[in-house]
Amino acid sequence: MDFIIHWLERKLSAKRYAHSLGCAETAKKLALLYNLDAKKAYIAGLIHDCAKNFENEELINIIRNEIKTGFDETELKNPKTYHAIVGAHFAKEIFEIEDAEIINSIRRHTIGSVDMTTFDKIIFLADKIEPNSRDEKYSKKIFKLIEDNKGIIGLDVAILKCFTETIKSLVKKKLYICPSTIDVYNILQQKVGELLEDD
Ligand SMILES: [Fe+2]
Ligand SMILES: [Fe+2]
Repeated sequence: MDFIIHWLERKLSAKRYAHSLGCAETAKKLALLYNLDAKKAYIAGLIHDCAKNFENEELINIIRNEIKTGFDETELKNPKTYHAIVGAHFAKEIFEIEDAEIINSIRRHTIGSVDMTTFDKIIFLADKIEPNSRDEKYSKKIFKLIEDNKGIIGLDVAILKCFTETIKSLVKKKLYICPSTIDVYNILQQKVGELLEDD
């Protein structure tokens, strides 16, 4: 764990490092709430943005020349998603993580996936609501959705809310929306859409 902490401290901006520590703590809290492995959740939360402060050019080079497979070209249309692909790669190569749950959750923390497990969902949400860099009002709103809708449904409603906001913001900024983001939105909308109240 010390190696990971020191590496992140050196490679991430102070703000991103604080976000990573907050995400690790929040992931641990959510894991305990859902009877999942809290230590694994802490590690996934800690590492999820390990590639975030690398230049886009460096990330795309790693994706094209080292990783080579396991991604879709549509994922490469928005550079903001590069760090999830490279982050999962670094987890294996640099931090020697072999646990598939940790690696997959890092891989899926930006655009999500229609196959998201409960573990993936808590890492995704911890990233959105951790207290060190996220807006407190927004975090509280998302956490209330988790609390108000018991069980896995709570995670689904909270993620639907996050995807709704993400899609709105991408449209507003006239940015490309990855088809898998729309797929996750549609699946959750059909599953728990009626539980999401209007703002
Ligand atoms: Fe990220
Ligand atoms: Fe993050």
